[in-house]
Amino acid sequence: MRHPVVMGNWKLNGSKEMVSNLIKGLDAALEGVEGVDVAVAPPVMYLDLAEQLIGKAKNKIILGAQNVDVNASGAFTGDISPEMLKDFGASHIIIGHSERREYHSESDEFVAKKFAFLKEHGLTPVLCIGESEAQNEAGETVAVCARQIDAVINTLGVDALNGAIIAYEPIWAIGTGKAATADDAQRIHAAIRAHIAEKSEDVAKQVVIQYGGSVKPENAAAYFAQPDIDGALVGGAALDATSFAAIAKAA
Ligand code: G3H
Repeated sequence: MRHPVVMGNWKLNGSKEMVSNLIKGLDAALEGVEGVDVAVAPPVMYLDLAEQLIGKAKNKIILGAQNVDVNASGAFTGDISPEMLKDFGASHIIIGHSERREYHSESDEFVAKKFAFLKEHGLTPVLCIGESEAQNEAGETVAVCARQIDAVINTLGVDALNGAIIAYEPIWAIGTGKAATADDAQRIHAAIRAHIAEKSEDVAKQVVIQYGGSVKPENAAAYFAQPDIDGALVGGAALDATSFAAIAKAA
Protein backbone atom coordinates (compact mmCIF):
# COMPACT_ATOMS: atom_id res chain seq x y z
CA MET A 1 0.00 0.00 0.00
CA ARG A 2 1.41 3.39 -0.97
CA HIS A 3 1.82 6.02 1.71
CA PRO A 4 0.87 9.57 0.65
CA VAL A 5 3.53 12.27 0.81
CA VAL A 6 2.63 15.95 0.98
CA MET A 7 5.63 18.16 0.38
CA GLY A 8 5.94 21.92 0.53
CA ASN A 9 8.31 23.50 -1.99
CA TRP A 10 9.03 26.95 -0.62
CA LYS A 11 10.91 27.97 -3.77
CA LEU A 12 12.73 31.32 -3.45
CA ASN A 13 10.88 32.46 -0.36
CA GLY A 14 12.02 32.80 3.20
CA SER A 15 13.83 34.64 5.95
CA LYS A 16 14.98 33.41 9.35
CA GLU A 17 11.79 34.78 10.83
CA MET A 18 9.55 33.20 8.21
CA VAL A 19 11.24 29.79 8.46
CA SER A 20 10.87 29.88 12.22
CA ASN A 21 7.21 30.92 12.16
CA LEU A 22 6.31 28.52 9.40
CA ILE A 23 7.86 25.42 10.96
CA LYS A 24 6.55 26.22 14.43
CA GLY A 25 3.11 26.99 12.98
CA LEU A 26 3.14 23.82 10.93
CA ASP A 27 4.09 21.71 13.93
CA ALA A 28 1.13 23.11 15.86
CA ALA A 29 -1.26 22.73 12.91
CA LEU A 30 -0.20 19.12 12.26
CA GLU A 31 -1.45 17.94 15.65
CA GLY A 32 -3.60 14.85 15.04
CA VAL A 33 -2.74 14.57 11.34
CA GLU A 34 -1.94 10.93 10.58
CA GLY A 35 -1.32 8.56 7.70
CA VAL A 36 0.65 11.02 5.58
CA ASP A 37 4.32 11.95 5.35
CA VAL A 38 4.75 15.71 5.55
CA ALA A 39 7.90 17.27 4.11
CA VAL A 40 9.18 20.81 3.57
CA ALA A 41 11.86 22.05 1.19
CA PRO A 42 13.10 25.46 2.29
CA PRO A 43 15.79 27.36 0.39
CA VAL A 44 19.10 25.61 1.11
CA MET A 45 20.33 28.64 3.07
CA TYR A 46 17.79 27.83 5.79
CA LEU A 47 18.36 24.09 6.11
CA ASP A 48 20.38 24.48 9.29
CA LEU A 49 17.68 26.52 11.00
CA ALA A 50 14.95 24.25 9.66
CA GLU A 51 16.77 21.15 10.92
CA GLN A 52 17.04 22.64 14.41
CA LEU A 53 13.36 23.62 14.49
CA ILE A 54 12.21 20.26 13.14
CA GLY A 55 14.35 18.59 15.82
CA LYS A 56 12.27 20.39 18.47
CA ALA A 57 8.90 19.79 16.77
CA LYS A 58 6.36 17.43 18.34
CA ASN A 59 5.07 16.20 14.99
CA LYS A 60 7.11 14.50 12.32
CA ILE A 61 8.23 16.84 9.56
CA ILE A 62 10.60 15.53 6.91
CA LEU A 63 13.26 17.94 5.71
CA GLY A 64 13.86 18.27 2.00
CA ALA A 65 15.67 20.50 -0.46
CA GLN A 66 14.91 22.00 -3.85
CA ASN A 67 17.96 20.99 -5.85
CA VAL A 68 21.29 19.15 -5.85
CA ASP A 69 24.39 19.13 -8.02
CA VAL A 70 25.90 16.18 -9.88
CA ASN A 71 29.35 16.61 -8.33
CA ALA A 72 30.50 15.58 -4.87
CA SER A 73 33.05 18.35 -4.25
CA GLY A 74 35.57 20.61 -5.93
CA ALA A 75 35.56 23.64 -8.20
CA PHE A 76 31.83 23.95 -8.82
CA THR A 77 30.95 27.43 -7.61
CA GLY A 78 27.51 27.78 -6.13
CA ASP A 79 26.67 24.08 -6.15
CA ILE A 80 25.46 21.84 -3.32
CA SER A 81 26.29 18.15 -2.97
CA PRO A 82 24.15 15.29 -1.64
CA GLU A 83 26.45 14.88 1.37
CA MET A 84 25.98 18.56 2.26
CA LEU A 85 22.21 18.08 2.18
CA LYS A 86 22.55 14.96 4.33
CA ASP A 87 24.74 16.89 6.74
CA PHE A 88 21.72 19.09 7.50
CA GLY A 89 19.24 16.23 7.70
CA ALA A 90 17.61 16.74 4.31
CA SER A 91 16.36 13.48 2.80
CA HIS A 92 13.77 14.30 0.11
CA ILE A 93 15.32 16.25 -2.73
CA ILE A 94 13.33 17.85 -5.53
CA ILE A 95 14.91 17.49 -8.97
CA GLY A 96 13.76 18.39 -12.45
CA HIS A 97 11.28 21.03 -11.35
CA SER A 98 9.98 22.81 -14.44
CA GLU A 99 11.44 26.07 -13.11
CA ARG A 100 14.92 24.47 -13.09
CA ARG A 101 14.33 22.91 -16.50
CA GLU A 102 13.21 26.27 -17.91
CA TYR A 103 15.39 28.89 -16.17
CA HIS A 104 18.53 26.76 -15.84
CA SER A 105 18.21 24.74 -19.03
CA GLU A 106 18.25 21.41 -17.21
CA SER A 107 17.81 18.55 -19.67
CA ASP A 108 16.15 15.18 -19.04
CA GLU A 109 19.62 13.60 -19.07
CA PHE A 110 21.01 16.07 -16.52
CA VAL A 111 18.03 15.47 -14.26
CA ALA A 112 18.58 11.70 -14.60
CA LYS A 113 22.19 12.22 -13.47
CA LYS A 114 20.94 14.05 -10.39
CA PHE A 115 18.51 11.22 -9.75
CA ALA A 116 21.34 8.67 -9.91
CA PHE A 117 23.55 10.75 -7.64
CA LEU A 118 20.84 11.09 -4.99
CA LYS A 119 20.18 7.35 -5.00
CA GLU A 120 23.89 6.66 -4.73
CA HIS A 121 23.94 8.77 -1.57
CA GLY A 122 20.84 7.21 -0.06
CA LEU A 123 18.58 10.23 -0.60
CA THR A 124 15.01 10.24 -1.91
CA PRO A 125 14.61 11.91 -5.31
CA VAL A 126 11.38 13.79 -5.88
CA LEU A 127 11.39 13.73 -9.68
CA CYS A 128 9.21 16.46 -11.19
CA ILE A 129 7.70 15.86 -14.60
CA GLY A 130 4.98 17.59 -16.55
CA GLU A 131 3.95 19.22 -19.77
CA SER A 132 3.64 22.83 -20.93
CA GLU A 133 0.35 24.34 -21.95
CA ALA A 134 1.22 23.99 -25.65
CA GLN A 135 2.15 20.33 -25.17
CA ASN A 136 -1.07 19.79 -23.27
CA GLU A 137 -3.13 21.35 -26.06
CA ALA A 138 -1.27 19.25 -28.62
CA GLY A 139 -2.23 16.09 -26.72
CA GLU A 140 1.40 15.33 -25.84
CA THR A 141 1.06 15.15 -22.06
CA VAL A 142 1.62 11.43 -21.58
CA ALA A 143 4.43 11.32 -24.16
CA VAL A 144 6.27 14.19 -22.41
CA CYS A 145 5.91 12.56 -18.99
CA ALA A 146 7.01 9.17 -20.38
CA ARG A 147 10.09 10.76 -21.99
CA GLN A 148 11.06 12.48 -18.74
CA ILE A 149 10.70 9.24 -16.77
CA ASP A 150 12.45 7.18 -19.44
CA ALA A 151 15.55 9.36 -19.07
CA VAL A 152 15.86 7.78 -15.61
CA ILE A 153 14.66 4.28 -16.49
CA ASN A 154 16.87 3.97 -19.57
CA THR A 155 20.05 4.88 -17.73
CA LEU A 156 19.42 3.35 -14.30
CA GLY A 157 16.78 0.68 -14.88
CA VAL A 158 13.20 0.73 -13.66
CA ASP A 159 14.13 -0.50 -10.16
CA ALA A 160 15.77 2.89 -9.54
CA LEU A 161 12.23 4.23 -9.10
CA ASN A 162 11.80 2.05 -6.01
CA GLY A 163 11.57 4.36 -3.02
CA ALA A 164 11.62 7.47 -5.21
CA ILE A 165 8.78 9.94 -5.62
CA ILE A 166 7.42 11.26 -8.90
CA ALA A 167 5.66 14.62 -8.88
CA TYR A 168 3.40 15.19 -11.88
CA GLU A 169 3.13 18.95 -12.29
CA PRO A 170 1.45 20.33 -15.39
CA ILE A 171 3.44 23.53 -15.96
CA TRP A 172 0.31 25.51 -16.86
CA ALA A 173 -1.14 24.72 -13.41
CA ILE A 174 1.88 25.89 -11.39
CA GLY A 175 1.20 29.10 -9.50
CA THR A 176 -1.66 29.99 -11.84
CA GLY A 177 -4.70 28.96 -9.81
CA LYS A 178 -5.66 26.96 -12.92
CA ALA A 179 -5.35 23.50 -11.35
CA ALA A 180 -5.93 20.33 -13.35
CA THR A 181 -9.28 18.76 -12.49
CA ALA A 182 -9.00 15.73 -10.21
CA ASP A 183 -10.33 13.53 -13.05
CA ASP A 184 -7.78 14.83 -15.56
CA ALA A 185 -4.95 14.48 -13.05
CA GLN A 186 -6.06 10.92 -12.26
CA ARG A 187 -6.08 10.05 -15.98
CA ILE A 188 -2.48 11.24 -16.37
CA HIS A 189 -1.32 9.60 -13.14
CA ALA A 190 -2.84 6.30 -14.28
CA ALA A 191 -1.09 6.66 -17.66
CA ILE A 192 2.25 7.39 -15.95
CA ARG A 193 1.81 4.34 -13.73
CA ALA A 194 0.84 2.21 -16.73
CA HIS A 195 3.97 3.39 -18.53
CA ILE A 196 6.13 2.30 -15.60
CA ALA A 197 4.18 -0.98 -15.38
CA GLU A 198 5.33 -1.83 -18.92
CA LYS A 199 8.79 -2.24 -17.36
CA SER A 200 7.79 -3.47 -13.90
CA GLU A 201 4.36 -3.92 -12.38
CA ASP A 202 5.84 -4.12 -8.89
CA VAL A 203 7.63 -0.79 -9.21
CA ALA A 204 4.55 0.81 -10.76
CA LYS A 205 2.41 -0.36 -7.85
CA GLN A 206 4.70 1.00 -5.16
CA VAL A 207 5.96 4.29 -6.63
CA VAL A 208 4.43 7.39 -5.06
CA ILE A 209 3.08 9.82 -7.68
CA GLN A 210 2.23 13.26 -6.31
CA TYR A 211 0.16 15.87 -8.09
CA GLY A 212 1.41 19.47 -8.10
CA GLY A 213 -0.02 22.67 -9.50
CA SER A 214 -2.28 25.08 -7.59
CA VAL A 215 -3.13 22.57 -4.86
CA LYS A 216 -5.10 24.33 -2.12
CA PRO A 217 -7.03 23.19 0.96
CA GLU A 218 -10.23 23.55 -1.12
CA ASN A 219 -9.23 21.14 -3.90
CA ALA A 220 -6.81 18.78 -2.11
CA ALA A 221 -9.34 16.15 -1.00
CA ALA A 222 -10.60 15.67 -4.56
CA TYR A 223 -7.08 14.79 -5.74
CA PHE A 224 -6.37 12.49 -2.83
CA ALA A 225 -9.61 10.59 -3.44
CA GLN A 226 -8.17 9.42 -6.78
CA PRO A 227 -6.62 5.95 -6.78
CA ASP A 228 -3.36 6.98 -8.48
CA ILE A 229 -2.70 10.30 -6.72
CA ASP A 230 -0.48 9.76 -3.68
CA GLY A 231 -0.09 13.19 -2.15
CA ALA A 232 0.97 16.56 -3.48
CA LEU A 233 3.89 18.84 -4.17
CA VAL A 234 2.65 22.21 -2.98
CA GLY A 235 4.09 25.64 -3.78
CA GLY A 236 2.15 28.76 -2.81
CA ALA A 237 -0.16 27.13 -0.27
CA ALA A 238 2.85 25.62 1.53
CA LEU A 239 3.88 29.10 2.66
CA ASP A 240 0.95 29.21 5.05
CA ALA A 241 1.12 26.71 7.91
CA THR A 242 -2.65 26.38 8.31
CA SER A 243 -3.27 25.87 4.59
CA PHE A 244 -0.43 23.39 4.20
CA ALA A 245 -1.53 21.39 7.24
CA ALA A 246 -5.10 21.35 5.89
CA ILE A 247 -3.79 19.87 2.63
CA ALA A 248 -1.83 17.24 4.58
CA LYS A 249 -4.93 16.44 6.62
CA ALA A 250 -6.89 15.79 3.41
CA ALA A 251 -4.38 13.13 2.28
O1 G3H B 1 6.67 22.61 -6.54
C1 G3H B 1 5.50 23.04 -6.44
C2 G3H B 1 4.77 23.41 -7.61
O2 G3H B 1 5.51 24.07 -8.57
C3 G3H B 1 3.38 23.91 -7.41
O3 G3H B 1 3.34 25.27 -7.11
O4 G3H B 1 1.30 25.09 -5.67
O5 G3H B 1 2.25 27.31 -6.26
O6 G3H B 1 1.11 25.92 -8.00
P1 G3H B 1 1.90 25.94 -6.73
